[in-house]
Amino acid sequence: MQQALSFDDVMLIPRLSNINSRGDVDLSTSIAGIKLKIPIIAANMSSVCGVDMAIKLGGLGGLGIIHRMCSIEEQAKMVSVVCNYPVPAFVSSPLKVGFSIGIGPDWRERMDACCNNANIVCLDIAHAHHQRVLYLLKEYFEFYQNYPIIIGQVATPNAVRDILNIIPEQYHSSIAFKTSIGGGSLCTTRIKTGFGIPTLQAVMNIKKEFSKISIIADGGIRESGDIVKSLALGANAVMLGNLLAGTEESPGGIIKGNDGKLYKIYRGSSSYGDKSLRGEEIKNIEGEEILVSYKGSVIRVITNLLDGIRSGFSYGGAINIEELQDSIEYIQITNAGMKESLPHGLFNL
Ligand code: XMP
Repeated sequence: MQQALSFDDVMLIPRLSNINSRGDVDLSTSIAGIKLKIPIIAANMSSVCGVDMAIKLGGLGGLGIIHRMCSIEEQAKMVSVVCNYPVPAFVSSPLKVGFSIGIGPDWRERMDACCNNANIVCLDIAHAHHQRVLYLLKEYFEFYQNYPIIIGQVATPNAVRDILNIIPEQYHSSIAFKTSIGGGSLCTTRIKTGFGIPTLQAVMNIKKEFSKISIIADGGIRESGDIVKSLALGANAVMLGNLLAGTEESPGGIIKGNDGKLYKIYRGSSSYGDKSLRGEEIKNIEGEEILVSYKGSVIRVITNLLDGIRSGFSYGGAINIEELQDSIEYIQITNAGMKESLPHGLFNL
């Protein structure tokens, strides 16, 4: 039986380094032909990415994908606000922003309402290795040609192959795939259906067969170390939900808990809560709705993550993502190894 590795199963092997300062590390990347200064994308979820998140993350050189859990007019307005936001002085190029579409009958309308003000679209469906997606993509490439697109979720090289097969080769460089299935912190897909592939394994499998295609590791990323592992083993960027939910910039208000602490709501796109907010029929629930601690500004969260990522590159002796991926080696660790990796033997002060 094949074995699949999750983030906690894997450790990267340190290499000779001549990185003198973490600040020298260049984290720039490219997905579907779109250049980003940092390889971080905010998930297209109603409790993660609206206007404020897209502006702040875009300002830092990452990318926010405006969610589609609202009317076409509301989504188009959000995209337009971000697109017309005055570029902060510290950003050398205009903010990049994306928006998501589903496979419902309104996808063309959403596309037409948003695409002129955005840089990239994200086709957002739980299982993109689906005949309906293939039909949609055929139409997409006829009309929108090389407009950059993220296609997700996929988890296997077979999915990538079947999708690429129906798309003219000249457009392949404007495609990114996001993977995996069931890895998100709120997902119940694997439990409910028995299907899924760990995010890191899915990234590795797809990278092995499609070395040139852009890959976004999406689901289950909890720490900067998970981001370094994703980039090292094949991803061009990561998509974050939980890590960015609960920040000042994520949509939704702050809630004061009975314990006096501050929280925000984080909702799975297939959760009961998200579906009821959209007025959708309550069926096919495959996600949870939870409270996450209020984290303050997303700038602080991203700054901390970048600090950890740059440190990771230093252990890998890599000045940029290309160098990190070049001949990187990893080991599979045991549960005992994972226990040792966590802080241990500590006493509360
Ligand atoms: P994290 O771990 O960063 O994952 O919170 C975010 C990703 O989770 C996916 N997602 C879902 N998956 N049911 C699922 O099975 C859901 O309700 C759901 N909502 C989000 C999505 O890929 C997101 O980027």
